[in-house]
Amino acid sequence: MDEKPLKAAIVGCGSIAGVHAPLIAAAGGAVLTACADILPERAARLADSFGATPYPSLEAMLAHETIDVLHICTPHALHVPMAQQAHARGIRVFMEKPPVISRAQWKELEALDDTLGICFQNRHNRNFRHLKGVLASGEAGRVLGARAYVAWFRNESYYTDSGWRGTWALEGGGTLINQAIHTLDLLVNLLGKHTSVDTWMGNRHLKGVIEVEDTVDARICFGDAVAVFFATNASACGSPVEIHVDCENATFSLRDNRFHAAWRNGRTEDVAFEQPDALGKDYWGSGHAACMEDYYKAVRAGQPAPIGITDVRDTVDLMLAMYDQGRETLKAQ
Ligand SMILES: NC(=O)c1ccc[n+]([C@@H]2O[C@H](COP(=O)([O-])OP(=O)(O)OC[C@H]3O[C@@H](n4cnc5c(N)ncnc54)[C@H](O)[C@@H]3O)[C@@H](O)[C@H]2O)c1
Repeated sequence: MDEKPLKAAIVGCGSIAGVHAPLIAAAGGAVLTACADILPERAARLADSFGATPYPSLEAMLAHETIDVLHICTPHALHVPMAQQAHARGIRVFMEKPPVISRAQWKELEALDDTLGICFQNRHNRNFRHLKGVLASGEAGRVLGARAYVAWFRNESYYTDSGWRGTWALEGGGTLINQAIHTLDLLVNLLGKHTSVDTWMGNRHLKGVIEVEDTVDARICFGDAVAVFFATNASACGSPVEIHVDCENATFSLRDNRFHAAWRNGRTEDVAFEQPDALGKDYWGSGHAACMEDYYKAVRAGQPAPIGITDVRDTVDLMLAMYDQGRETLKAQ
């Protein structure tokens, strides 16, 4: 007998909801039945395109709909309280990054269970997966350290038009928590739990416009391995994220969809991976489909989320430690 398709809903019908909505069917094999936004025209627009029912709030949607999976696509500060509301009703959650904006929220999130999925879609990047495999083979020897660079641009209206970005209360930070968190997450995935960090944050471009950082640099120790990390939204334009990993026997570089290896014996390798087209903006990458496919498979199998709370703990811990230090340097600027 055919299983009934899962019923999905979206709360927050802004930019990223436009990526989730088509993938609910295409990657998740589920049906988008409802969507909610405090801006009714946004909920209506998304609902019209997918044959769903629009609601003016999460509460109204939960009161009227029977939902299996809730996609949380709202401003950062709302992720945890909305996940709690869904969880209390037995609804599974697929949450956009970042999972939390503070330690208090992390405590609350940790109290939920491991069925909650978190969208760190860049973990599905093929060049990153290839690098993980090469490191796991042991051929490269010990990891000595890494370097990661995110040089992007966000203009004033990106922050001022949104009503939430650029504020501590709703975004919980700037470049690090919103854009560079993906790259920080990949670094943690490669090097493990950090043992110490030294962070500087500042506002180079939008002083008086945003409260939060537009630039962050850090030296992060992962035991004996040392990473330097630099991210900014104050560049002239967006350029591809770069991650370099130095090992005893080779240096590996990821940029765009490419993997490059420079072995100490002079051998080099350059692999360009086919990557599915990005839905939405290029810099969001194209991993949402794979991430949602995996997540929905786990839901149907009654298994923990493939990227769940315990899988993001080290990234969150590092990010929050960087904000503890960065808020101080930002204040002193
Ligand atoms: N994974 C990625 O690469 C990626 C890319 C972009 C955005 N995101 C994440 O997606 C989330 C949303 O970002 P966005 O760029 O789509 O923002 P957005 O401002 O375009 O959309 C957010 C929507 O939430 C709505 N909203 C605000 N408060 C609400 C409430 N109480 N109830 C219901 N709706 C409410 C807003 O009206 C808006 O339509 C953020 O967490 C962001 O970090 C992730």
